[in-house]
Amino acid sequence: MSSVEVKAYAKINISLDVLSKLEDGYHEMLMVMQSVGLCDDIRITLNDTGRFESRSNLSYLPDDGRNLAVRAAKLFLDAAGMPDTGAMIEIQKRIPVCAGLGGGSADAAAVLRALNSHTGAGFSREALEKLGETLGSDVPFCVAGGTAIARGRGEKLKPLPPLPTCHIVICMPDFTISTPALFNSFDCGRTRNRPDTEGLVRAIEGGDLQGAARRMYNVFEDVLPRNRGEVSALKGKLLEYGALGAAMSGTGPAVFGLFGGADKAEAAYYALSGSGVRRFLTKPIEILQ
Ligand code: C5P
Repeated sequence: MSSVEVKAYAKINISLDVLSKLEDGYHEMLMVMQSVGLCDDIRITLNDTGRFESRSNLSYLPDDGRNLAVRAAKLFLDAAGMPDTGAMIEIQKRIPVCAGLGGGSADAAAVLRALNSHTGAGFSREALEKLGETLGSDVPFCVAGGTAIARGRGEKLKPLPPLPTCHIVICMPDFTISTPALFNSFDCGRTRNRPDTEGLVRAIEGGDLQGAARRMYNVFEDVLPRNRGEVSALKGKLLEYGALGAAMSGTGPAVFGLFGGADKAEAAYYALSGSGVRRFLTKPIEILQ
């Protein structure tokens, strides 16, 4: 049976603001998002039994219809008028799970993109983003990739120019945070610190890396139920090791630092080796093909 392989790139939130609570319980967001080179490898093998399965190097990931990559394959094949086709999806996970790095969304988006080119279904990128919306709020961005402002639940995207050349160190502490619980505990009216999103966008448009890094901020950092100290200590270390800016990504707990030079980023990566966090040295990537 025919197979296709694809990379699923993680995302980071250069900024994250929550503007209001919507009537459906979701929240109106304003975020600057960036794809990074840290990725999962996915192989999709189509079959004519109509069955779906998945396998990965992480034993605790669901291997059935609860897996976002499997749901994406089903959704796509139905939309493409191929309801009798099934798929085996093999995932080599590198993106930490429940980290705020959009790992599940990245896998789902990669499945949509790969099946679109492999089957010749010919959906436009906008149509794929629309399909992705039903799977998760970050899936449309992961379909598009690159650098973008995201509004609404995260599905209203406007591309930005690529970030100026830079290097990124991502740190994943040894705990997780519940996304719905963090959203539920967030009170839009009581937030004191907000990112300067306009200034951030101007800095990116002007190719000003320092200006962009200085404006990175995530409103969830202020309302972490526990472990708030660990997240801010990690940010502090990244800054101490030469990051131009540091922030938590998404609903955390992954924290990243933006560095101007590869040497500084590498030095920070090695300096953090004894800190008990998983670390990744990576770079922004531009719009996905
Ligand atoms: O869309 P997704 O499944 O990724 O969202 C996970 C959870 O995050 C939702 O159930 C909701 O509680 C919260 N969320 C939100 N507003 C958003 C995105 C997510 O409240 N814009």
